[in-house]
Amino acid sequence: MKDVRIGIIGCGGMGTHLARSCLQVHNAKIVGTYDAVKEKAKFLAHQLKCDYYDSVEDLLDKPDIDAVIVATPNYTHSAFTIAALKAGKHVFCEKPMALKLEDCDAMIGASEKQGLTLMVGHVMRFYHGCAFIKRALENGEIGQPIISHVFRTTWVKVGAWSKSWRCKKELCGNSLFEVAIHDIDLMRWFIGDVKSVKAYSSNFSHPEFDYDDSIIAILRFKNGALGLLESGFSSRLGDHKIDVNGTLGAANIDFKALTVKVAVEGRGERKEPLIKSNPVVDELQHFVNCVSTGKKPITDGLAGRGAVEIALAISRACEEAAQMNG
Ligand SMILES: NC(=O)c1ccc[n+]([C@@H]2O[C@H](COP(=O)([O-])OP(=O)(O)OC[C@H]3O[C@@H](n4cnc5c(N)ncnc54)[C@H](O)[C@@H]3O)[C@@H](O)[C@H]2O)c1
Repeated sequence: MKDVRIGIIGCGGMGTHLARSCLQVHNAKIVGTYDAVKEKAKFLAHQLKCDYYDSVEDLLDKPDIDAVIVATPNYTHSAFTIAALKAGKHVFCEKPMALKLEDCDAMIGASEKQGLTLMVGHVMRFYHGCAFIKRALENGEIGQPIISHVFRTTWVKVGAWSKSWRCKKELCGNSLFEVAIHDIDLMRWFIGDVKSVKAYSSNFSHPEFDYDDSIIAILRFKNGALGLLESGFSSRLGDHKIDVNGTLGAANIDFKALTVKVAVEGRGERKEPLIKSNPVVDELQHFVNCVSTGKKPITDGLAGRGAVEIALAISRACEEAAQMNG
């Protein structure tokens, strides 16, 4: 297999992590970097011994770049992804895919028109334990899903993001888009699409955010299952768990304790490790394999769009509840 030559758009925390992780991916080669802050692109290029570019157009013009990784702030994902696809590059786009459904649709449309790979960075599908639960659901061990709980809360130090794109709704979305989108994707992968939502939100601790720092939502899935989701940045201890209760059994992932359990009536409880290999390396290997073979990624544009649709529905339900309650 020929190397897939990759350009990095966005050389901050995640762009750097993805670029370094590519060093462990078979048939991946980082060949260029770009960032709005030139020094960041230059620094990463120096570390990886590749070129850096002063503009994204210069990077996308290079015929020896096959694919790009988009790891810029959330509000920029769609424009960079569409520009890259139009320039003939395959795209790995970090989550959330975008902040609006129209943008997700335009990204999917561009990848289909160009016949190029579009993958969204929903890395948790590449955790061994999450794939294990998916298989247990698919082979009917747990039965029909009936109730799921998702907790994705953390503490963001007051003021820590005051100069960051992360505290502005227009640039980041909110905690659903920025963090819980991973868990929303998993819940949707396990159970399916959501039919209706009730939700409440408040900003308890972060006056520097122009969005609420705490969200609680109740979901009804299209297949009749119920869901309860908490997301936010106001919990000092924080929590990160997903469970799926079914008609025959139950599955539980505790991301802090790194444990995965499946209990089935009459067969007792089984445990699995959450992680067996590096999930970021595995997701990037999947991207490179899809680019090389033309296969659809498991976290394709439709998967990215599905998670964004749920995050938008919960955000809308919070706004409606706020309006009703004055
Ligand atoms: N999959 C994961 O687990 C995970 C983890 C962290 C972040 N992310 C996602 O990765 C993306 C980047 O997050 P981060 O933590 O690296 O943020 P960051 O703020 O550390 O880095 C963003 C980089 O983008 C650059 N940038 C900003 N605007 C730009 C523009 N218009 N053009 C070019 N460059 C621009 C900044 O200079 C910075 O270097 C976000 O979408 C975030 O949600 C994903």
